[in-house]
Amino acid sequence: MRIVSGIKPSGQLTLGNYIGAIKQFLDLQEKFSNSSFFIFIADLHAITIPINSHELEKNIREIAATYIACGLDPLKVNIFLQSEVKEHTQLSYIMESTSHIGELERMIQYKDKKNYSETIRTSLFTYPNLMAADILLYDADIVPVGSDQSQHLELTRTLAKRFNHNYGKTFKIPEGYKSKIGSKIMSLTDPIKKMAKTEKSSKSYILLSDDLTSVKKKIYSAVTDNDNEIYFDEKKKPGLSNLLTIYASLSNNSIKETEKKFKNSSYKEFKDSVYKIIAETLEPIQKKYKSLINSKKLDEILDKGKKEASKIAELKILDVYNKVGLKR
Ligand code: AMP
Ligand code: TRP
Repeated sequence: MRIVSGIKPSGQLTLGNYIGAIKQFLDLQEKFSNSSFFIFIADLHAITIPINSHELEKNIREIAATYIACGLDPLKVNIFLQSEVKEHTQLSYIMESTSHIGELERMIQYKDKKNYSETIRTSLFTYPNLMAADILLYDADIVPVGSDQSQHLELTRTLAKRFNHNYGKTFKIPEGYKSKIGSKIMSLTDPIKKMAKTEKSSKSYILLSDDLTSVKKKIYSAVTDNDNEIYFDEKKKPGLSNLLTIYASLSNNSIKETEKKFKNSSYKEFKDSVYKIIAETLEPIQKKYKSLINSKKLDEILDKGKKEASKIAELKILDVYNKVGLKR
């Protein structure tokens, strides 16, 4: 079994990233302990939108340290920078020569961002090609991602099948792996939108690095409603349902169990408990992070990850080039 995923270093990681992605990595690490894991920092994806180069460099290191601080075990998981394994971009070009313009134009993430300006980067358009390459390069069986990535994953499967059909069986068809609870954590200030590290208002998200005092403030000021009843209904009560989801996920309970637990609580009592469970999750992560961020060990882990990933990627790209006819 091979498991592959990545996160863009376009800012610091949020609680949404933790619940939607990292928590799945940790579950899979336990569940499939004999599998090979490739969890990378999707740094090439981060430059699809403008980002200061110093900030990018800082974010890359921070994400690497955060992966390990959250509990990814470098003995079981290969952690590396996407940009350090050049085959990702090589295969991305092959994917550009496999996908159709119409398919890329239908991608929601592209359509959403494209509305902001006309000077969006070309790489934002071809983003799904690189993502498909990231996955297919390693013959991933399972790709743990939040639900915002479902469409990209579906396109990846389409491209793999198309390539296999045109050139003979080359790629495994990957399956997505979503958490049952929390595959889309919403903004605390506008719970119709997903929680994202690129949002302007820092009140809308919780960063894994946030100090606990500001976590408390953000939870207390999170938008809810006025009817003072605690139950799950994403349409009628999006803010409250989002907090229920966060609690359920972090406490490893179902939404039903969580609803029951807080049935007779006030919003204040409920928010207190949500804050506490977030604090319990973040405290050990932040402690471990501090010991890692400036350590040499972090570089050793990334070097090893790069080496292991390259071994597989080099063979795969050779096979692909051969099949396409890029040879003499
Ligand atoms: P990104 O930060 O966009 O690179 O996302 C990295 C991973 O985190 C992907 O698997 C996303 O689906 C997941 N993710 C990002 N934001 C959220 C969110 N608000 N809720 C759940 N998962 C998320
Ligand atoms: N596109 C993903 C996101 O924005 C990040 C990503 C890039 C990814 N390549 C990937 C996730 C490959 C899984 C597998 O969240």
